[in-house]
Amino acid sequence: MNPNRVVAITGASAGIGRATAVRVARDGARVVICARREAALRAVAGEIAAAGGQALPIVADVTREADMTQLVAKAVERFGRLDVMLCNAGFGVAGAIDDITSDQMRRLMDVNYMGTFYAARAAMPVFRKQGRGHVIMVSSIVGKRGVPYMGAYSATKFAQVGLAECLRAEVSGSDIHVTVVYPVSTETEFFDVMSKQTGLEITRAYGPRQDATIVADAIARAIDRPVPEVYPYPRSKALAVVNAIAPGFCDRIVKRFGRKPVGPLA
Ligand SMILES: NC(=O)c1ccc[n+]([C@@H]2O[C@H](COP(=O)([O-])OP(=O)(O)OC[C@H]3O[C@@H](n4cnc5c(N)ncnc54)[C@H](OP(=O)(O)O)[C@@H]3O)[C@@H](O)[C@H]2O)c1
Repeated sequence: MNPNRVVAITGASAGIGRATAVRVARDGARVVICARREAALRAVAGEIAAAGGQALPIVADVTREADMTQLVAKAVERFGRLDVMLCNAGFGVAGAIDDITSDQMRRLMDVNYMGTFYAARAAMPVFRKQGRGHVIMVSSIVGKRGVPYMGAYSATKFAQVGLAECLRAEVSGSDIHVTVVYPVSTETEFFDVMSKQTGLEITRAYGPRQDATIVADAIARAIDRPVPEVYPYPRSKALAVVNAIAPGFCDRIVKRFGRKPVGPLA
């Protein structure tokens, strides 16, 4: 990786964002990391500094547009430019759509979609001025094909894809790139957060699970060599292909991938 790269990451206090910050900093990138939990964020920055890297931690909430504008301004102020905006912060809620409340749906949209929109929107003027840059959005395999009981979450992940595809076509031919990442189930805090948000115990989904470092490695490769789409678990791309050709057949395949809430949290 170009060791001078400046990479901003939302949701870097845990999970995929944290793993990516550590990974790209190890390659020499200077990272600007944001999340709401200051102590966890500082721990990530400390780990990066201890390994000889440079990290600027910024406590910020992706649902606040001003926070995202500040994130980009501070990155440019500190490092002189911004090369990558990784829109990663997000969470899930499980349940049939008649069990999900309107407030839960709005909150999911606020964090997962509006948070992505604000972060990308804050970075784009800098990228246009520089004549180069890279927006990366962490969607999900359920942003390509919905699974049972994940409708509200899945909708926010599809929304990111729509935003990314349009932006990608707009900047096509320039040195500004847009990438969407489609992880499968990944070992992070995501499932604990989802159980708490849902207030219910949730069944473990059938299907592959990967480590956050696998996703981080795939993102690092995309930063080095920008591509439109990244499937950190490559075989999952088949689901998108089958769904495009035979969505009804795919309904039967994904039935087993659902995450049904089963009862109150212990
Ligand atoms: N884990 C999976 O199975 C999986 C699969 C596919 C896609 N994804 C996607 O991957 C992304 C990262 O999730 P993860 O699995 O790494 O989950 P995670 O371990 O729970 O990490 C989520 C991160 O987002 C941050 N965050 C949440 N709300 C925020 C807000 N309002 N403002 C700023 N930061 C916020 C959290 O930090 P604070 O709480 O400190 O703010 C945390 O750093 C999400 O977009 C998720 O949809 C996850």
